[in-house]
Amino acid sequence: MSKQAQMSEQPTYFDFSYENAKAAEAVITKYPEGWQASAVMPLLDLAQRQNDGWLPRVAMDYVADMLSMPRIRVYEVATFYTMYNLNPVGKYHVQVCTNLPCWLRGSDAIVSSCKSSLGVEFGETTEDGLFTLSEAECLGACVNAPMMQINDDFFEDIDSGSTETILSELTAGSKPKTGSQISRVSCEPIDGLTTLTHQAEARAVKLGDA
Ligand code: FES
Repeated sequence: MSKQAQMSEQPTYFDFSYENAKAAEAVITKYPEGWQASAVMPLLDLAQRQNDGWLPRVAMDYVADMLSMPRIRVYEVATFYTMYNLNPVGKYHVQVCTNLPCWLRGSDAIVSSCKSSLGVEFGETTEDGLFTLSEAECLGACVNAPMMQINDDFFEDIDSGSTETILSELTAGSKPKTGSQISRVSCEPIDGLTTLTHQAEARAVKLGDA
Protein backbone atom coordinates (compact mmCIF):
# COMPACT_ATOMS: atom_id res chain seq x y z
CA MET A 1 0.00 0.00 0.00
CA SER A 2 1.34 3.46 -0.81
CA LYS A 3 2.07 5.93 1.93
CA GLN A 4 -0.51 8.25 0.42
CA ALA A 5 -3.23 5.73 1.15
CA GLN A 6 -1.97 5.28 4.70
CA MET A 7 -1.87 9.02 5.37
CA SER A 8 -5.15 10.17 3.90
CA GLU A 9 -6.52 11.46 7.22
CA GLN A 10 -7.00 15.19 7.40
CA PRO A 11 -5.64 17.04 10.44
CA THR A 12 -8.15 19.06 12.42
CA TYR A 13 -5.95 22.03 13.31
CA PHE A 14 -3.58 24.37 11.50
CA ASP A 15 -1.85 27.53 12.62
CA PHE A 16 1.10 29.36 11.12
CA SER A 17 4.34 29.09 13.04
CA TYR A 18 5.64 32.35 14.47
CA GLU A 19 8.08 32.74 11.55
CA ASN A 20 5.46 31.97 8.91
CA ALA A 21 2.92 34.29 10.54
CA LYS A 22 5.48 37.10 10.22
CA ALA A 23 6.24 36.09 6.63
CA ALA A 24 2.52 36.02 5.81
CA GLU A 25 2.02 39.50 7.25
CA ALA A 26 4.93 40.76 5.15
CA VAL A 27 3.32 39.31 2.01
CA ILE A 28 -0.09 40.76 2.81
CA THR A 29 1.32 44.26 3.28
CA LYS A 30 2.55 44.22 -0.33
CA TYR A 31 -1.04 44.64 -1.52
CA PRO A 32 -3.21 47.75 -1.24
CA GLU A 33 -6.00 47.89 1.30
CA GLY A 34 -8.95 45.82 0.10
CA TRP A 35 -6.81 43.59 -2.15
CA GLN A 36 -5.40 41.25 0.49
CA ALA A 37 -6.93 38.26 -1.29
CA SER A 38 -4.15 38.68 -3.85
CA ALA A 39 -1.82 37.16 -1.24
CA VAL A 40 -3.61 33.80 -1.40
CA MET A 41 -1.02 31.96 -3.50
CA PRO A 42 2.09 32.81 -1.46
CA LEU A 43 0.19 32.12 1.76
CA LEU A 44 -0.93 28.71 0.51
CA ASP A 45 2.69 28.02 -0.44
CA LEU A 46 3.84 28.96 3.07
CA ALA A 47 1.18 26.72 4.59
CA GLN A 48 2.14 23.82 2.33
CA ARG A 49 5.84 24.14 3.18
CA GLN A 50 5.03 24.21 6.89
CA ASN A 51 2.87 21.09 6.52
CA ASP A 52 5.44 18.71 4.99
CA GLY A 53 4.62 19.66 1.41
CA TRP A 54 0.85 19.26 1.28
CA LEU A 55 -2.23 21.36 1.97
CA PRO A 56 -4.88 19.91 4.25
CA ARG A 57 -8.30 21.47 4.12
CA VAL A 58 -7.85 23.06 7.54
CA ALA A 59 -4.81 24.97 6.22
CA MET A 60 -6.82 26.27 3.26
CA ASP A 61 -9.56 27.37 5.66
CA TYR A 62 -6.95 29.09 7.84
CA VAL A 63 -5.63 31.06 4.86
CA ALA A 64 -9.18 31.93 3.77
CA ASP A 65 -10.02 33.28 7.22
CA MET A 66 -6.74 35.20 7.39
CA LEU A 67 -7.52 36.94 4.09
CA SER A 68 -11.25 37.31 4.79
CA MET A 69 -12.01 35.27 1.68
CA PRO A 70 -14.84 32.80 1.11
CA ARG A 71 -13.31 29.36 1.65
CA ILE A 72 -14.53 28.16 -1.73
CA ARG A 73 -12.38 30.82 -3.42
CA VAL A 74 -9.29 29.36 -1.76
CA TYR A 75 -10.30 25.81 -2.70
CA GLU A 76 -10.66 27.00 -6.30
CA VAL A 77 -7.07 28.27 -6.31
CA ALA A 78 -5.61 25.24 -4.52
CA THR A 79 -7.33 22.74 -6.79
CA PHE A 80 -6.46 24.61 -10.00
CA TYR A 81 -2.68 24.86 -9.62
CA THR A 82 -0.68 21.63 -9.54
CA MET A 83 1.95 23.29 -7.33
CA TYR A 84 -0.41 22.64 -4.44
CA ASN A 85 -0.60 19.08 -3.16
CA LEU A 86 -3.93 18.14 -1.63
CA ASN A 87 -2.63 14.80 -0.38
CA PRO A 88 0.50 13.92 1.60
CA VAL A 89 3.70 13.62 -0.41
CA GLY A 90 7.05 12.05 0.32
CA LYS A 91 10.18 13.92 1.32
CA TYR A 92 10.98 14.22 -2.40
CA HIS A 93 8.15 15.02 -4.78
CA VAL A 94 9.26 13.85 -8.22
CA GLN A 95 7.27 15.48 -11.01
CA VAL A 96 8.09 14.18 -14.47
CA CYS A 97 7.00 16.35 -17.37
CA THR A 98 5.30 14.30 -20.08
CA ASN A 99 4.04 17.19 -22.17
CA LEU A 100 4.75 17.23 -25.92
CA PRO A 101 8.33 18.65 -26.10
CA CYS A 102 9.48 16.41 -23.23
CA TRP A 103 7.67 13.43 -24.72
CA LEU A 104 9.34 14.01 -28.11
CA ARG A 105 12.70 14.10 -26.29
CA GLY A 106 12.19 10.85 -24.40
CA SER A 107 10.04 11.40 -21.32
CA ASP A 108 8.63 7.86 -21.67
CA ALA A 109 12.07 6.52 -20.72
CA ILE A 110 12.26 8.89 -17.76
CA VAL A 111 8.87 7.73 -16.52
CA SER A 112 9.94 4.09 -16.84
CA SER A 113 13.18 4.75 -14.95
CA CYS A 114 11.35 6.50 -12.13
CA LYS A 115 8.73 3.77 -11.85
CA SER A 116 11.25 0.94 -11.85
CA SER A 117 13.75 2.70 -9.55
CA LEU A 118 11.14 3.72 -7.01
CA GLY A 119 8.72 0.81 -7.39
CA VAL A 120 5.68 3.09 -7.53
CA GLU A 121 3.20 4.34 -10.12
CA PHE A 122 2.09 7.94 -10.67
CA GLY A 123 0.27 9.27 -7.62
CA GLU A 124 1.97 6.86 -5.23
CA THR A 125 4.57 7.27 -2.50
CA THR A 126 7.33 4.80 -1.67
CA GLU A 127 6.88 2.74 1.48
CA ASP A 128 9.77 4.55 3.19
CA GLY A 129 8.05 7.89 2.60
CA LEU A 130 10.99 9.27 0.62
CA PHE A 131 9.49 9.71 -2.85
CA THR A 132 6.15 10.60 -4.38
CA LEU A 133 5.93 10.25 -8.16
CA SER A 134 3.69 12.57 -10.18
CA GLU A 135 3.08 13.32 -13.84
CA ALA A 136 3.32 16.99 -14.74
CA GLU A 137 2.32 19.12 -17.67
CA CYS A 138 4.81 21.63 -19.06
CA LEU A 139 7.03 22.99 -16.29
CA GLY A 140 8.54 25.69 -18.47
CA ALA A 141 11.92 24.12 -19.20
CA CYS A 142 11.10 22.69 -22.65
CA VAL A 143 14.33 24.07 -24.09
CA ASN A 144 16.24 21.50 -22.02
CA ALA A 145 13.71 18.68 -22.41
CA PRO A 146 13.20 16.12 -21.08
CA MET A 147 13.11 17.27 -17.51
CA MET A 148 11.70 16.60 -14.08
CA GLN A 149 11.19 18.72 -10.99
CA ILE A 150 12.03 17.41 -7.52
CA ASN A 151 10.81 19.71 -4.77
CA ASP A 152 12.16 23.15 -5.76
CA ASP A 153 14.86 21.88 -8.15
CA PHE A 154 14.78 21.30 -11.90
CA PHE A 155 16.76 18.46 -13.51
CA GLU A 156 17.06 18.97 -17.25
CA ASP A 157 18.51 17.18 -20.30
CA ILE A 158 17.98 13.92 -18.43
CA ASP A 159 17.98 10.34 -19.68
CA SER A 160 17.43 7.00 -17.98
CA GLY A 161 20.96 6.90 -16.58
CA SER A 162 21.01 10.39 -15.13
CA THR A 163 17.50 9.92 -13.74
CA GLU A 164 18.58 6.80 -11.86
CA THR A 165 21.71 8.58 -10.61
CA ILE A 166 19.69 11.54 -9.33
CA LEU A 167 17.23 9.29 -7.51
CA SER A 168 19.95 7.13 -5.98
CA GLU A 169 21.88 10.19 -4.79
CA LEU A 170 18.78 11.52 -3.08
CA THR A 171 18.17 8.10 -1.52
CA ALA A 172 21.73 8.18 -0.19
CA GLY A 173 21.13 11.61 1.35
CA SER A 174 23.37 13.57 -1.00
CA LYS A 175 22.45 16.52 -3.20
CA PRO A 176 22.54 15.81 -6.94
CA LYS A 177 23.61 18.39 -9.49
CA THR A 178 20.63 20.50 -10.56
CA GLY A 179 19.88 22.05 -13.94
CA SER A 180 21.17 20.55 -17.17
CA GLN A 181 22.72 17.11 -16.72
CA ILE A 182 24.88 17.44 -19.84
CA SER A 183 27.57 19.92 -20.81
CA ARG A 184 25.06 22.60 -21.77
CA VAL A 185 25.44 25.95 -20.00
CA SER A 186 22.05 27.05 -18.67
CA CYS A 187 19.75 26.85 -21.72
CA GLU A 188 22.31 27.77 -24.37
CA PRO A 189 22.45 25.68 -27.57
CA ILE A 190 24.21 22.34 -27.01
CA ASP A 191 26.92 23.26 -29.52
CA GLY A 192 27.55 26.66 -27.97
CA LEU A 193 26.29 30.15 -28.72
CA THR A 194 24.88 30.90 -32.16
CA THR A 195 23.90 34.50 -31.46
CA LEU A 196 25.45 37.32 -29.46
CA THR A 197 28.77 35.59 -29.99
CA HIS A 198 30.62 38.92 -30.03
CA GLN A 199 29.73 39.29 -26.36
CA ALA A 200 31.28 35.91 -25.58
CA GLU A 201 34.39 36.88 -27.59
CA ALA A 202 34.61 40.19 -25.74
CA ARG A 203 34.35 38.34 -22.45
CA ALA A 204 37.08 35.92 -23.50
CA VAL A 205 39.39 38.81 -24.52
CA LYS A 206 38.75 40.59 -21.24
CA LEU A 207 39.48 37.43 -19.27
CA GLY A 208 42.68 36.99 -21.32
CA ASP A 209 43.75 40.54 -20.47
CA ALA A 210 43.25 40.01 -16.77
S1 FES B 1 7.10 20.26 -22.21
FE1 FES B 1 8.32 19.56 -20.55
S2 FES B 1 9.01 21.43 -19.68
FE2 FES B 1 7.75 22.10 -21.30
